[in-house]
Amino acid sequence: MIDSNTSERILSTLRESLLSGAALRQRAMQLLDELPEYDWSGIYQLEGDMLVLDEYVGAETNHTHIPVGRGVCGTAVAEDRNQVIEDVRNLDNYIACSTSTRSEIVVLIRDVSGTVLGQIDIDGHNVGAFDASDEALLEATGAVLAERWQ
Ligand code: SME
Repeated sequence: MIDSNTSERILSTLRESLLSGAALRQRAMQLLDELPEYDWSGIYQLEGDMLVLDEYVGAETNHTHIPVGRGVCGTAVAEDRNQVIEDVRNLDNYIACSTSTRSEIVVLIRDVSGTVLGQIDIDGHNVGAFDASDEALLEATGAVLAERWQ
């Protein structure tokens, strides 16, 4: 749950930033990871049929390459829609990065023509940590990142 002031603060910081490409994506992950429920904040880029870990803030993960269709991340691409998972323990198709993760949100990043460039993936330590307000913030964040992807 994100209030509109917090959302606006993060988005205006990113919009006004002079950074671009990987540096902007790293800045975005830092800002997001400061939010209380955000315990791992990262970006995967879509390269063919593979999601490849890009910038992130949080514990190191072995899951640097995730095939489309696998896990929450791969499902988002396969189904072409964002994933908001209330309790990851209810999923069969889940790749655990950390045993303390309880909820997860994955939001696709698209360029202006709608092509998927990648995704923002956030893990939370509490059940039901994310809702439509988080999805809206991450969608808007992704739009800023897509404009300055290179
Ligand atoms: N849990 C994800 C894998 C990525 S880690 O959370 C960083 C998934 O099921 O796809």
